[in-house]
Amino acid sequence: MTNNTTNSSNHGISQAQLDAHWMPFTGNREFKKDPRIIMSAQGNYYTDANGRQIFDGLSGLWTCGAGHARPEITAAIATQAATLDYAPAFQFGHPKSFELAHRITQLMPDGLNRVFFTGSGSESVETALKIARGYWRKQGQASKTRFIGRSKGYHGVNYGGISVGGLSPNRAIFGQGIEACHLPHTMLSENKFVQGMPSKGGYLAEELEQLIAVYDASTIAAVIVEPLAGSAGVIPPPVGYLKRLREICNKHNILLIFDEVITAFGRMGANTGAAEFGVTPDLMTVAKQLTNGVIPMGAVIAKQAIYDTYMETGGPEYMLELPHGYTYSAHPIACAAALASLDILAKENLAERVKTIAPYFQESLHSLKGCDHISDIRNYGLAGGITIEAFGTEQGKPEPGKRPYEIAMKMWQKGFYVRYGGDTIQLGLPFTCTLPEIDSLMNALGETINEVN
Ligand SMILES: Cc1ncc(COP(=O)(O)O)c(C=O)c1O
Repeated sequence: MTNNTTNSSNHGISQAQLDAHWMPFTGNREFKKDPRIIMSAQGNYYTDANGRQIFDGLSGLWTCGAGHARPEITAAIATQAATLDYAPAFQFGHPKSFELAHRITQLMPDGLNRVFFTGSGSESVETALKIARGYWRKQGQASKTRFIGRSKGYHGVNYGGISVGGLSPNRAIFGQGIEACHLPHTMLSENKFVQGMPSKGGYLAEELEQLIAVYDASTIAAVIVEPLAGSAGVIPPPVGYLKRLREICNKHNILLIFDEVITAFGRMGANTGAAEFGVTPDLMTVAKQLTNGVIPMGAVIAKQAIYDTYMETGGPEYMLELPHGYTYSAHPIACAAALASLDILAKENLAERVKTIAPYFQESLHSLKGCDHISDIRNYGLAGGITIEAFGTEQGKPEPGKRPYEIAMKMWQKGFYVRYGGDTIQLGLPFTCTLPEIDSLMNALGETINEVN
């Protein structure tokens, strides 16, 4: 049942309109009782329907590190829309996609130099998994189809992504995905409250040898991990861990995929997590910060040997080598937005700026230790995660998501947007944030965490 009543507290949005939109990753029933409506954004702030300024403590969804409403991006989009609004993505090209692909390769670690465009992080993951399987088939090793993900990993919401992902609520109701098994996560109790990369836990990479012993390398296409797990609540890699994964993959002829949908283009204080942590994968997935979140776009960046394998086995030259792609792959307006966005990152040295202010952010974040309910704090670059102890109900059944939800809602009322997910509060500050903004966010957060029961 819907009705058309416009509830004044719904800011001019009728109940029928509210009902019509099935919102993603949202408690629809709760949201629609008291909608949080954002009307505009500028710099590091949103303006809500009541005209309140709200600090963007997660850069959108880890997307808008350069701040909102950047005129350079807006202008690039307008010009592109007026010049070439769309070009068929298959069999035809337009100049900006090639310029952007080349620009992206310049920001990658050496060796990652072939770019396939997608429309989102989930599509990037799906594309990388398919490229990996296809690569082995083309190499004459068609049995290499299994993937190894990691517990607490998030790789988007498509079937491949939820299969390799390690967050069970995202898969529980959807049934069979693709063949995947999982490494243990690296969130060790002895690493609680460690600042930056934990020194303990590198040995957990050896678990990969165990999985290979069980399944055999002849059945495994690739290992996929986020260099820093974001959506699980910011889990930086232990020292030596990624390097060891790389060594084991090399030893057994297994591809290594880094899902850098959150970590690429500045958030770690470098162009990529791979560069920051000193380990180069065979395939990398990116999205989010690529266009500063302004227009959906993702990409997979591959080592040349993978691309060359497809070309060499592609049959007659008029044939397509990879039967895969999206209507919106390399969309001209997304390419224009990405070029403008990468220009801003370069001109304003934003990755460098992240590195410079990260120690202040780290200290400020960890000063929350000692607030009620906090059982762990983690950080790297301008990413931070706080674990909140589960709220026990009268029946004794813990509700890990309840306190983080209450904290995030109270923060919103106080003029700060932070993300809650599972038993964590997540922070992904704009690269352009100031030190006083960090102070006021942390002050409000500490006070709010102490306020919840
Ligand atoms: C590491 C990682 N991979 C994939 C995705 C999915 O991206 P999208 O929501 O654009 O499909 C996300 C989104 O947060 C992510 O963090």
